[in-house]
Amino acid sequence: MKKVLMDCDPGHDDMIAIMLAAASDEIELLGITTVAGNQTGSKTFRNALRILTLINRKDIPVARGFDKPIVRELIVAPEIHGVSGLDGADFPEPSVKPLNMHAVDFIIKTVMKSDENVYLVPTGPLTNIAVALMKEPKIKDKIERIVLMGGAVFDSNVTPAAEFNIYVDPEAAKIVFESGVPITMVGLDVTDKAIFNFSDIDKLEKTNGRVSRVVAPLLRFFGNANKEIYGFNGAPLHDALALSVLIDRSVVKTKPLHVDIETKGEFTRGETVADVYGITGKAPNADVAMELDLKKFKSMVFKLIGKLDESLENRI
Ligand code: RIB
Ligand code: CA
Repeated sequence: MKKVLMDCDPGHDDMIAIMLAAASDEIELLGITTVAGNQTGSKTFRNALRILTLINRKDIPVARGFDKPIVRELIVAPEIHGVSGLDGADFPEPSVKPLNMHAVDFIIKTVMKSDENVYLVPTGPLTNIAVALMKEPKIKDKIERIVLMGGAVFDSNVTPAAEFNIYVDPEAAKIVFESGVPITMVGLDVTDKAIFNFSDIDKLEKTNGRVSRVVAPLLRFFGNANKEIYGFNGAPLHDALALSVLIDRSVVKTKPLHVDIETKGEFTRGETVADVYGITGKAPNADVAMELDLKKFKSMVFKLIGKLDESLENRI
């Protein structure tokens, strides 16, 4: 079992990532920290609590992090995730009691006290991760790997040059990519292909499971928003694909590349500048996902959400 800390900005695809982590026998989810991104800090925090309430995992600690990037003003994405950050279905008000600790302190405390190295899986802007690395550099030796959703070699979404998570806090991303901690970068080049299409969503809904029947309309909302803006045929499960790498490494194929983060460009802020041909001569600092096994990924999603359905049925 891998010890994992997630840092996220739920967010529909963050929600699926949390569900996979909670359901998988490969992962011991030590906790969840939240950050502003898809929506404001208070909304992403509330959404994490609502998701854990829905799947009845009140045992997983949740700590709230930063409400804005290190330097920049916050940018949110209501056009994709809605006003609440998780629009598309009614689900329970949170009954999980959050930690009274800042996300950065929870990350440091959890990593330092763990008897094994910890995997960090950030699926939002990297603000919390960057500040934790700055506040306590000793955690670098106890982080096994950072498996992050963010960036892209050839793709983009928030501007023609950048992906949302990196764009929102490029200074934080620069700190993380220059930290020396092993990184797997799961970017849009593969996550834009990790589409849970509208017939997948209908299939999920037909199972009528207690989790599936809430997740399906949420993903339909998310899929429709992505169809309207990017022409996708469904919901791109960006964050879930990143998390899935810790469940089955063969879901993606990666290439070791040197990646720099643009923090100054007028048109290129937040670009992950990947040295595909080794032109800079700089040593690789990330394993960058370039291909995915979509069939394997989708069957994992169906299997693990089905497992959550069963766990709730058995609870009655
Ligand atoms: O660009 C996609 C990323 O931005 C995903 O993590 C999504 O949840 C949003 O945070
Ligand atoms: Ca996210």
